[in-house]
Amino acid sequence: MKAVILVGGKGTRLRPLTCKTPKAAIPILNRPALEHMLRYLEGHGIHDVILATGHLADSIDGILKSIQIDIRTLPVLETMPLGTAGAVKNASRYLDDAFVVLNGDIVTGIDLSEMARLHRQVRPRVTMALTPVDNPTMYGVVETTDCGLVKKFVEKPGWDRVTTNLINAGIYIIEPAVLDYVAESTMVMFEDYVFPRLLEQGEPVLAYPSDAYWIDVGTPEKYLKVNQDLLGQTQTGAVVQGEAVIDPGARLEGPVLIGPECVIAAGAHIRGPSVIGPQCRIAAGAAIEASVLWDNVTIGERSKVKTSIIASNCRVEEDCYLEQCVLGRGVTIGRGNSLDWGARIWPDSLVGCAPPASSH
Ligand code: GTP
Repeated sequence: MKAVILVGGKGTRLRPLTCKTPKAAIPILNRPALEHMLRYLEGHGIHDVILATGHLADSIDGILKSIQIDIRTLPVLETMPLGTAGAVKNASRYLDDAFVVLNGDIVTGIDLSEMARLHRQVRPRVTMALTPVDNPTMYGVVETTDCGLVKKFVEKPGWDRVTTNLINAGIYIIEPAVLDYVAESTMVMFEDYVFPRLLEQGEPVLAYPSDAYWIDVGTPEKYLKVNQDLLGQTQTGAVVQGEAVIDPGARLEGPVLIGPECVIAAGAHIRGPSVIGPQCRIAAGAAIEASVLWDNVTIGERSKVKTSIIASNCRVEEDCYLEQCVLGRGVTIGRGNSLDWGARIWPDSLVGCAPPASSH
């Protein structure tokens, strides 16, 4: 079975991380998000993958070269955003049998092999993976019949109308005939156009509910969470990748992943769950807690970074305090700044040094 991964979205909710980096390229545990998805597909015996690209497509070509995996990948570019269904239609010349479509921003353990087996057995038009959420009133929920077919899509139901906590997990197995519902070169979404039309026409859409791990990495909070969840699943202490210089006087506490060629000075304290990307420098007395740093980030002496995401090539000078901040690529935070209000700083910005405290 072939797969189509949707990687063309702008990722606006993840800005400034996605201003210069497509969502598929953002690192999760120091590897591009797309690599996690490809390994998931490989684990389910899928070796032919079409990437529906758009926003920052060139970067996706670049990261594909860096991933060593036994999968054939074919990027198919949209010259304008076509939406989830329009993007698949745009690649339809490569699809001649039932195929899998996945939102490129999910990390999951849903059993795709079992889902495909069920699809082949029942042969509906679409099999849709469903995942439970704690608060269904925030999502479009999917009601199903007793025999497991999708009955209805209900957008953000009030608590008095909640009949299920299952939402669309962004993984579908689709018969090619479904693409007849999608006009060429037109912006069309599966979620709010194609799937409701299928139900109107009485076409069978099979539900595949699963309580396996699932997260969509759509916001900075979820981006931190996926890194922390995966860290927690794989390690309890510190893991250092490749060569790094860690002073014996540095303290690494809890699940911490340190990328290759990092330099961590004496008196630095890194508290997990945290991920430090390759070639970062953490100076003496600096403290990092529950945060993710991409590559080539410098944290100056005595600076503290808590629950924050810092993209590549950023520099936080001495005596800063950052909490719940998201820094785009190439940001410099001058000495003595305190950003503890969830700031989002756009790429290449310079936040000047804070004035010295008044002597009065
Ligand atoms: P937001 O702007 O933050 O909503 O992010 P997004 O643009 O990624 O949209 P959303 O999270 O709804 O998209 C779900 C998946 O579909 C992601 O993997 C996107 O990359 C992908 N996607 C969304 N729109 C398009 C599109 O027009 N073309 C392609 N090829 N993929 C898309």
